[in-house]
Amino acid sequence: MLDKRDKTKNEAKGLRLYVRTFGCQMNFRDSEYVAGILIDKGFSLADSVDDADVILFNSCSVRKHAEDRLFSNISKLKKLKAKKPDLVIGLIGCTAQSYKNEAILRTPILDLVCGPGNESDLPRLIADVLKNRCAIVAADKVNEKRPELFPGYREAGSKAYVSIGEGCDNYCSYCIVPYVRGKERSRDAEDIAREVKDLASRGFKELILLGQNVNSYKGAGGRGPGASFVKLLESLNSIDGIERIRFMTSHPKDAHTELFMAMRDLEKVCEHLHLPLQSGSDRILKLMNRKYTAKKYLKLIEDYRKLVPGGSITTDIIVGFPSETENDFRKTCRIMETVGFDSAFTFKYSPRPPAKSAELKDDVPQEAKEKRLATVIELQCRSSQKRNEDIVGKKAEILVDGHSKKDVSLLSGRTRTNKTAVFKGDASLVGAFVNIEIESATPFALKGKILQ
Ligand code: 5AD
Ligand code: SF4
Repeated sequence: MLDKRDKTKNEAKGLRLYVRTFGCQMNFRDSEYVAGILIDKGFSLADSVDDADVILFNSCSVRKHAEDRLFSNISKLKKLKAKKPDLVIGLIGCTAQSYKNEAILRTPILDLVCGPGNESDLPRLIADVLKNRCAIVAADKVNEKRPELFPGYREAGSKAYVSIGEGCDNYCSYCIVPYVRGKERSRDAEDIAREVKDLASRGFKELILLGQNVNSYKGAGGRGPGASFVKLLESLNSIDGIERIRFMTSHPKDAHTELFMAMRDLEKVCEHLHLPLQSGSDRILKLMNRKYTAKKYLKLIEDYRKLVPGGSITTDIIVGFPSETENDFRKTCRIMETVGFDSAFTFKYSPRPPAKSAELKDDVPQEAKEKRLATVIELQCRSSQKRNEDIVGKKAEILVDGHSKKDVSLLSGRTRTNKTAVFKGDASLVGAFVNIEIESATPFALKGKILQ
């Protein structure tokens, strides 16, 4: 029912929204959150940009490449905007926070720029743009906590992303996140549990807990389930209906054996650890302000492997950080070889002011960065192939996501270790758990058959 006193709800009635997301899972979750707020105010979702009255671009600004793609995509809407002058085009998320007014100078077809902290005001901001037909920039609440009453809207499926906190206090020297996402704020453990119980009652089976550094989680109050990340995992593990719990990202400086023991002991917590290494050189790690050494990282991996046998490990690697020599780079390759990651996200360094490293000379030549990137990609490909081959012949439990994009005659899903597996099966299995036997492997996926 429409609340007559709620003006934004009346005004929004019938407006169609299209949200386009560039970036990580956190951005995906933020887009869902924003869509939820607007749907609660009477918006409906459009199938495409052509069909929309309001188009929001939600973009991460962690790497320059993503940002350039974003602005070129916004500019592509010029023709549409000329045809539909009432169309509202907005930029939300980290890039909005980092660019503020400059985003409008760069792409004048933008009507609205809204940082992550201001996103709960979007219904009013959009109503103001529609009423006054002038561009609005709202990016003044970088450290604010979101209201806890999260909207119910979720994308369909059996997995749900759950944010356990926002912001980051680590200030890795290359990283823009603390500047655009503000100080670390943990959500209250009881509010998280309430949200998870609601998700379970709606049929969601897998949780992906999200935070910039989940291991430093301290729920408001810092007692009971909010006392630490492990305590939070313990409390969520007991919620009926949820069958799998994943989390990301862990910072090596805060990851510890207590976490690995929880991964071993809590039956719903999946055996996958995403532990960004970034570099294998202690000198570069220091310049990156990562607060661990290569040796400490390797010790963590050793502990994890002992406590969670068969568990997978994935990582992030940056090549070409300022002053990185061939020798530093070889150290990164050596750790990659020693660990044998299951997969890795690999990046060429780009300066992201105001992050501190932007003050250092970006002195690794572009060709050297390219070459190093190609080397780590190749190394990782071999490692992923080997790790996947090692489990050929074994059985695995799969949560079926849908049809494989590459071959729609096959179903696709994930193992507990977060590996993609494809296999023949009936469409009715989407959303269900099946057991498969793994028959072959590529670096990117496992192929198997369902066990009866
Ligand atoms: N340049 C290259 N890669 C970066 N990352 C973060 N900032 C930068 C940057 N300035 C990478 C890190 C991080 C991942 C999310 O993005 O590897 O873990
Ligand atoms: Fe960025 Fe470091 Fe925080 Fe991760 S831990 S978000 S890399 S500052």
